[in-house]
Amino acid sequence: MMTNSVLKDRTESMATPVSAVPAHVRIVNVTKRLGSFTAVNDVSLEIPRGEMLTLLGPSGCGKSTTLRLLAGFYQPSEGEIFLGDERITMLPPNQRRMTMVFQEYALFPHLSVAENVGYGLKRRRMPGPQAQMRINEMLELVGLSGAAGKYPHQMSGGQQQRVALARALAVDPEVLLLDEPLSESRCEAARALARGDRPIAESLGQDHGFRDP
Ligand SMILES: Nc1ncnc2c1ncn2[C@@H]1O[C@H](COP(=O)(O)OP(=O)(O)OP(=O)(O)O)[C@@H](O)[C@H]1O
Ligand SMILES: [Mg+2]
Repeated sequence: MMTNSVLKDRTESMATPVSAVPAHVRIVNVTKRLGSFTAVNDVSLEIPRGEMLTLLGPSGCGKSTTLRLLAGFYQPSEGEIFLGDERITMLPPNQRRMTMVFQEYALFPHLSVAENVGYGLKRRRMPGPQAQMRINEMLELVGLSGAAGKYPHQMSGGQQQRVALARALAVDPEVLLLDEPLSESRCEAARALARGDRPIAESLGQDHGFRDP
């Protein structure tokens, strides 16, 4: 069960003194019950803009559930979530300015690699030529420039992870949530993100992220 005691391992090199910057993401006394099971129990957490945070804990302790709560795929049983001044506790995922790369990738099987990466851009009605440029840029970033026309079942696990990362980054989210997405990846951009490499994170335009390593 995720509790405050197992929650935090701030990546030192990325950490900004909490007192210097107001918290940008706030989880306040959040509990999530799944059926009769309490997966997350009264967790509170504040993270300033620009900080990268890693959630560590044993399998099944609630790391993925916490990320899903942040991304809006779950709503808390109790507690509140804020992004800046906005209370986002009940907002759907597409209104949160956050994207999540899932532990199980969650690519759309019937869409090509390029269509997967461009999915969020289409939903945001980005004009075609601009979207195409962004898709190419993201595929280059994750080392998959030649794979635009392939489908997920034609890709290895590591390649699928990189497509999922490109899809999450394409929409330039304010917060990037990574649920163990980089373990299989040999892509340098992905590994650098996994290490908490600040220049890479900044070059990608990420304000901050949460990682379930
Ligand atoms: N739909 C569900 N109904 C009931 N219990 C669930 C449900 N989904 C997850 N759980 C339980 O909630 C707990 C937290 O799951 P979660 O996926 O957040 O763990 P995790 O910390 O990400 O684990 P891992 O490191 O293995 O990925 C687990 O004990 C799991 O069995
Ligand atoms: Mg998990």
